[in-house]
Amino acid sequence: MAELGVNIDHVATVREARKTREPDPVWAAALAELGGADGITLHLREDRRHIQDRDLIVMKETVACKLNLELACEDDVLAIACKVKPDQVTLVPERREEITTEGGLDVIGNRSKVEKAIDQLRAAGMIVSLFLDPDEAQLQAAAEINADAVELHTGKYSLTKGGVQHAELEKLIAAGQFVRSAGMTLHAGHGLDYRNAKPVASIEGMCELNIGHSIVGRAIMVGMQQAVREMKQLISD
Ligand code: PXP
Repeated sequence: MAELGVNIDHVATVREARKTREPDPVWAAALAELGGADGITLHLREDRRHIQDRDLIVMKETVACKLNLELACEDDVLAIACKVKPDQVTLVPERREEITTEGGLDVIGNRSKVEKAIDQLRAAGMIVSLFLDPDEAQLQAAAEINADAVELHTGKYSLTKGGVQHAELEKLIAAGQFVRSAGMTLHAGHGLDYRNAKPVASIEGMCELNIGHSIVGRAIMVGMQQAVREMKQLISD
């Protein structure tokens, strides 16, 4: 059965809209754990648009389940990872102008940089996963540089429907088989929601799904009534 890593970045996005203390992604992580999360995922972006260094440092102390840090292959954030030592690092591509992570890491084009990052992180005791498109040449390169795990980018699958989506699922299934036969652990994520996650979770050997946007979005919806009721009660007492 696939484990669930809950990405809490969007909670920090709401906090950063006002640069205040609330909502605190550390609280969200604790509540996600109470809800049964097997992991907490956070992305320390170079522009610090949502998660801050403090969030990572506090969560390293408070998160009891697996702590998975998403990072670009850049020296400053790699140094932070090596200092804080989350359980797992997922290396992702990063462009400042993007809204979210677009496309997988180009291991072929950045082979020595990625290999060096893997060695550095592994020497500091972390599991290293690479966020990759379901592309055999990229997966082969990941195996050659000894990645522990591959997180398959499910963005194209998530954005499509019907026959096109089915074809994307077939690509993910074939890529999953390749990842496992190369001896790497299989993860997947990006764009997964309450409608489309199940077929990906059912891919043979799927170990971990990382899901953020849809869970944080659902949390707002299922929590709105209670939040309003509490304020209404408070101002009318
Ligand atoms: N996995 C990776 C590597 C990501 O970069 C993201 C987005 O931060 C996710 C999973 C979660 O994607 P979503 O928020 O669309 O569920």
